[in-house]
Amino acid sequence: MAVVTILNEDKTLKSHEEIVPALAHHGIDYERWTPSHPVPDDAPPEAILNAYAREIEALKQRGGYVTADVIDVNPATPGLEDMLAKFNREHWHDEDEVRFIIAGHGLFHIHANSGAVLSIEVEAGDLIRVPRGTLHWFNLCTDRRIRAIRLFQDTAGWTPHYTESRVDENFLPVCFGLAHLSMTS
Ligand SMILES: [Fe+2]
Repeated sequence: MAVVTILNEDKTLKSHEEIVPALAHHGIDYERWTPSHPVPDDAPPEAILNAYAREIEALKQRGGYVTADVIDVNPATPGLEDMLAKFNREHWHDEDEVRFIIAGHGLFHIHANSGAVLSIEVEAGDLIRVPRGTLHWFNLCTDRRIRAIRLFQDTAGWTPHYTESRVDENFLPVCFGLAHLSMTS
C-alpha cells in the first residue's frame, strides 16, 4: 500500500479508503492490482505483462495507452545517478506517467495546481497515473530499486519539461516505509 503525505498539512494517509479520494482530488489515479496468477517479481517481462494483462488492457482502453513495457532500476544499473538526475527536479510531460510497481520502492512528489505538495511512496502492487501536464518529481528510496510496468500513449511524449522552479529542493525525499533501513545502513 502506498503512503501519501500532504506536506503543507502535515497529514499522512495509509489506507486505500483515504488515499484514493485524496489523490483523485488532484487528478491522480491510484489502484491496487493483483496478478491473475502468482508471478515472481524477477520473472521475465513477458511473464509480468501476461500476469497483469487484464488490468493493462482495461487501462489501455481507458487512457488511450498503446504500449506497455517493464523497466528495471537497481543499484547496479549503469548510469543510475545520471538517470535519476533527469527526474528528481520538478518537471512535466506531454504524456501521462503510468507506473505499476512490481518490486522496490519509489517516491513521487506532486505539485498540485492548488499549490499543495503531496508525496506518494509506492511499493509492489501500487498503480499510479500522473496525468500529462502535472508538475512532479521522482526519487528512489534507500533500497535504490524499482521494477515497474509503464504504459505509454506515445513514447515521444516522455521527454521531461523542467520548470526550473527548484521547489523540489524544499522537500527531503524521505520514504517512510524504509526509514528504519536508512537509519541502520
Ligand atoms: Fe516524470
